[in-house]
Amino acid sequence: MKLAHILCLCLVLALSWADHHEGHGKTGQADKGHGEKGHVHKGPLPHGHDHTEPHPDRCKGIEMDAATVNEEGIPYFFKNHTLFKGFRGKAEFANETFNELDEHHHLGHVDAAFLMHNPDDPTHHDHIFFFLDTHVFSYYQHKLERGFPKLISQVFPGIPDHLDAAVECPKPECNEHSVIFFKGKDILHYNVKTKAVDKKTFASMPNCTSALRFTDHYYCFHGHQFSKFDPKTGAVHGKYPKETRGSFTRCPKFGERSDPVERERCSRVHLDAITSDDAGNIYAFRSHHFIQKNEGNDTLTVDTVENDFKELHSEVDAAFTYNGHLHMIKGDKFFVYKAGNPPTLVPGFPKALHNELGLNGPIDAAFVCQDHHIAHVIKGTDVYDVELKAAPRTAKNKRPFSLFRKVNAAMCGPEGVTVIVGNHFYRFASTQLFVASRALPEQHKVSLELFGCDH
Ligand SMILES: *[C@@H]1O[C@H](CO)[C@@H](O)[C@H](O)[C@H]1NC(C)=O
Ligand SMILES: *[C@@H]1O[C@H](CO)[C@@H](O)[C@H](O)[C@H]1NC(C)=O
Ligand SMILES: *[C@@H]1O[C@H](CO)[C@@H](O)[C@H](O)[C@H]1NC(C)=O
Ligand SMILES: *[C@@H]1O[C@H](CO)[C@@H](O)[C@H](O)[C@H]1NC(C)=O
Repeated sequence: MKLAHILCLCLVLALSWADHHEGHGKTGQADKGHGEKGHVHKGPLPHGHDHTEPHPDRCKGIEMDAATVNEEGIPYFFKNHTLFKGFRGKAEFANETFNELDEHHHLGHVDAAFLMHNPDDPTHHDHIFFFLDTHVFSYYQHKLERGFPKLISQVFPGIPDHLDAAVECPKPECNEHSVIFFKGKDILHYNVKTKAVDKKTFASMPNCTSALRFTDHYYCFHGHQFSKFDPKTGAVHGKYPKETRGSFTRCPKFGERSDPVERERCSRVHLDAITSDDAGNIYAFRSHHFIQKNEGNDTLTVDTVENDFKELHSEVDAAFTYNGHLHMIKGDKFFVYKAGNPPTLVPGFPKALHNELGLNGPIDAAFVCQDHHIAHVIKGTDVYDVELKAAPRTAKNKRPFSLFRKVNAAMCGPEGVTVIVGNHFYRFASTQLFVASRALPEQHKVSLELFGCDH
């Protein structure tokens, strides 16, 4: 994989890389000696761990009991009475954040948890639900809601006790806004509105002990492995299961720290351009860097623009994908690259932007929606349509939008139009809705929700 050559291309959500490097501890950072339970330590452990360490060590590869995101989208993992925040946060007692979880001594630890994210239903929006044995706890802003804990059967009729996992599934990822509950082989789709329960079996999936929706994807955890699944069908595509260490748990020995990747993943600097292909891979450009998010194997790779798009150097203005080609705009020039590793410039390009799209630079963003032959081009506070099959091509249908003064980048895919402004993105079901909207839709963080930064 040539794209990966110069910068240490690092793995992100996949562990194959880490497996591969496992023997290289001496050249990278050495394993910092986590754990070693059973060994009698005299005096303090290397990290000042108390001899009676009350928390499990997640770098040993533990099976989590429950997982959810908090209202800011930060992933939380639960094991026994321990809570781990993010992918590398230290262990703490769950009751330090959720005080009442331990007060009901007849109940065990957290079996399952999910965040209800539903702006249309203010009474439950951003509430975190915890399931312990027969009871459910509902927290809002870290406070237990009055009247809770309640019986699961009372709040979620038709949902059994002693659950294994739960995850919210909004539309259109599920046909109806649902919560997916897991117990053994049983998968229950609970319709949030009608409370109807639809029982399914996800044949290809192992029994999940926790489940998480993160960066628009669904993950089932089992043992210290995870599988990415389709929430509607339970189908698992790609090479799963994978090891959680190195992805959902960042541990020294498992590919921890890959600086260019972590820096780009968590950067708050706006992107210059973004596009996605039919397979769902994302190509993003930020100053001198080219960031590629691979849908199939959950990896994020970072390289320089110079390396992969030599003719562009850096600082791209806009990018869109059409017919298996990456179309790039920089200043008054228009470049077409054939997708590949590395992408190759199509002979004859760059050409004058005006001749190719009927517009002069600078362009802020451009995107093509699936199954269409129209490039939507954003210049200032106007959108233009360019019919890509026409010859010569012209920019038509100029219309102003009012929600943003400046758009940095935009792309279109099955989830609609994604518009990036600063370090946030906004989703619109269609280009028309983007133009017609008068109220800002929900704001999402690029770092956290697009690239999987954990904070
Ligand atoms: C669960 O946590 C409690 C309190 O920290 C501890 O005493 C107990 O041994 C733990 N149980 C397991 C199975 O690790
Ligand atoms: C929190 O939970 C731990 C472990 O179960 C327990 O030792 C501690 O007393 C609890 N703290 C509070 C404030 O309830
Ligand atoms: C999965 O759950 C079913 C109960 O629904 C159980 O019979 C089966 O043994 C479980 N499989 C594993 C691998 O734990
Ligand atoms: C992930 O997929 C991309 C695109 O198919 C490929 O170039 C890359 O080598 C893969 N990475 C790993 C770690 O498998």
